[in-house]
Amino acid sequence: MGKINNPAAVADFANQHDTNLAIIGPEGPLEAGVADALWEAGIPCVGPREALAQIETSKGFTRDLLTKYHIPACPVYKRYTAMEGVREFLIELGDNYVVKYDGLMGGKGVKVAGDHLHSHDEALDYCMELVNRGGTFVIEEKLIGEEFSLMSFCDGEHLAHMPPVQDHKRAYEGDTGPNTGGMGSYSDADHRLPFLTDDDISQAQRFNEATAQALKEEFSEGYKGVLYGGFIATADGVKLIEYNARLGDPEAMNVLPLLTSDFMEVCLGMVNGNLDAKDILFAHQATVCKYAVPEGYPDSPVKGEPIDVSAITDMEQLYYASVEARDGLLYEAGSRTVAYVGIAQTLSEAEAKAEAEITSVKGPLFHRTDIGTSALVQKRIDHITSIRD
Ligand code: AMP
Ligand code: GLY
Repeated sequence: MGKINNPAAVADFANQHDTNLAIIGPEGPLEAGVADALWEAGIPCVGPREALAQIETSKGFTRDLLTKYHIPACPVYKRYTAMEGVREFLIELGDNYVVKYDGLMGGKGVKVAGDHLHSHDEALDYCMELVNRGGTFVIEEKLIGEEFSLMSFCDGEHLAHMPPVQDHKRAYEGDTGPNTGGMGSYSDADHRLPFLTDDDISQAQRFNEATAQALKEEFSEGYKGVLYGGFIATADGVKLIEYNARLGDPEAMNVLPLLTSDFMEVCLGMVNGNLDAKDILFAHQATVCKYAVPEGYPDSPVKGEPIDVSAITDMEQLYYASVEARDGLLYEAGSRTVAYVGIAQTLSEAEAKAEAEITSVKGPLFHRTDIGTSALVQKRIDHITSIRD
């Protein structure tokens, strides 16, 4: 236990248990080279090798890769290891800039103008902090639009796209409060999202395809795993915010329950290099996922308090996250606690289901009641309409 970031330990464990397929969930083991160790031990692995996982672990690498292969998904950006030129580039960007630590920081390394940084001086202080820590960073243009996630199964050559999903990063109702790991998400029955055009979706799909191809050319080896594009639909079309080298949380809970094909077959397709998109089907249903999180989350979450899920009527779509089971009871472990996914013909029915079930979980918790409601979805549509007019 506790050694998931140790490649040799994971490969040994897998060997001792006659493993014939491994699926890596989080980014830590990908960055540590666990996929490399598993393949070397003869165990096929869903999840890219360390070098290809840079698509998530280094924001600068990703921006440079897309630029080199002429994939027009990036905002204006520059990479830095020291303070030279930082002030000048901030002046060039004016009020619309984002500073990103160039490595994994659990979603906390990104600071956006207007949200987390309120002046060039504050931005310079943050850059200085990163330099003092020995870090490198990226400064880029702040994009204005609506974010969505498009995940694709990838076998090194072929891709099969999942339905797009919209996550909600802010802790409180109406997209206010601090950023979180994601408070909830939704997907629609038609495998589109109400605020996107068909063009937006195919653009995002083409970016994932081009990026997988670029990775293959760059490393003479294909990317095997889930390629997760975090996109934003802007006035100038779709742009890339970031890539992840894994399934999204909560996005996976929206789309995997809709997969009508055998998940094992999909995984074997990825490792064997014979994925066929036409065999990978998703039910045409709407999904709304809501997380219940500890009071005080994310800044000062309560911990160790008991929760009670016994009033949930349909346990099938209840997902445990940061919980501890002790003596037959469940306790909050300090991060996002449990999620519930409502699945129905329409978004509003799916939302009503998720809301009723997650509300029935007892304990010092809260969730966002607005995720998936028609009012919030309409706000997204109005926003994109206003910037595209
Ligand atoms: P990341 O860790 O790169 O996903 O960034 C976290 C969040 O910061 C994203 O979900 C966006 O809301 C925001 N963000 C990152 N890059 C940009 C950008 N270039 N423009 C606007 N918002 C951004
Ligand atoms: N939903 C964001 C992530 O999984 O990183």
